[in-house]
Amino acid sequence: MAERRVLCVGLVCLDIISVVDAYPAEDTDTRCVSQRWQRGGNASNSCTVLALLGAPAAFMGSLAPGPAADFVLEDLRRRGVQLPHRVVHAGCAFPTSVVISSASRGTRTILHSNRNLPDVTAQDFEQVDLSQYKWIHWEGRNAAEQVKMIQRVEEHNRGCAPHQRIATSVEVEKPREELYQLLGYGDVVFVSKDVAKVFGFQSAPEAVRGLSSRVRPGTTLICAWAEQGADALGPAGELVHADAVPPARIVDTLGAGDTFNAAVIFALSAGRGLQEALAFGCEVAGRKCGVPGYDGIV
Ligand code: FRU
Repeated sequence: MAERRVLCVGLVCLDIISVVDAYPAEDTDTRCVSQRWQRGGNASNSCTVLALLGAPAAFMGSLAPGPAADFVLEDLRRRGVQLPHRVVHAGCAFPTSVVISSASRGTRTILHSNRNLPDVTAQDFEQVDLSQYKWIHWEGRNAAEQVKMIQRVEEHNRGCAPHQRIATSVEVEKPREELYQLLGYGDVVFVSKDVAKVFGFQSAPEAVRGLSSRVRPGTTLICAWAEQGADALGPAGELVHADAVPPARIVDTLGAGDTFNAAVIFALSAGRGLQEALAFGCEVAGRKCGVPGYDGIV
């Protein structure tokens, strides 16, 4: 049997990126340094990084037909990311983001448009042949449906020999009430700095300690905090920290969080310990910030 893959479920969109020296003032007319199209979306970006790191990666997300989808499909193919479960919605608009990437400030300002493309449902997910996967990651979006998908995997795991089980992870990135139910699912939970702040935490160690009552016992809870690195609470309640590894010069921070998640998943799914996985996440995310896009991070 072929090596089991890592499947990421979530958004794929088209990022239209303008790189600027300095973020423009409103109602001005300036030139950017460069402009490019890039496949985006958290789950889709994480797949890119997993594939670059050498993991067999697969993506599951909704598509709408048209030129943006053609671009994205070609790019998934180029990166060697499989798309075994295609969910296409005719008549919908493909999601796009206009991104202003300001290298001097290390910022990326995103204006996202998703007009009417429905997310993958639990019913769509029924089509997935679970035996193909060793790890499934969900980018928190339509949480109630995603809970049903995770429960399907848990049910599958109950009937499996330990070495055939599928590890699960979820990302709670957007500060949206609906997503917080996902904290209670997954072997690994990634919570963003934005969400941690909404809960009133001022640092990653505070956040993982403070949110521990919201995750199931035995969960690994991880929070990355930009230049302060990342902290995690392990399954036995141990606190782990890794320092950030900033590049010599910040060039592009778009997708840094998605890169961190992918590198941590890559390391954990290869059997590495939490400390090592966290350090690897910081290292790869740091390298990503030093290059435009994802080329050159491995
Ligand atoms: C980066 C990203 C972009 C996309 C946006 C969607 O994390 O996935 O690629 O435009 O976020 O929120």
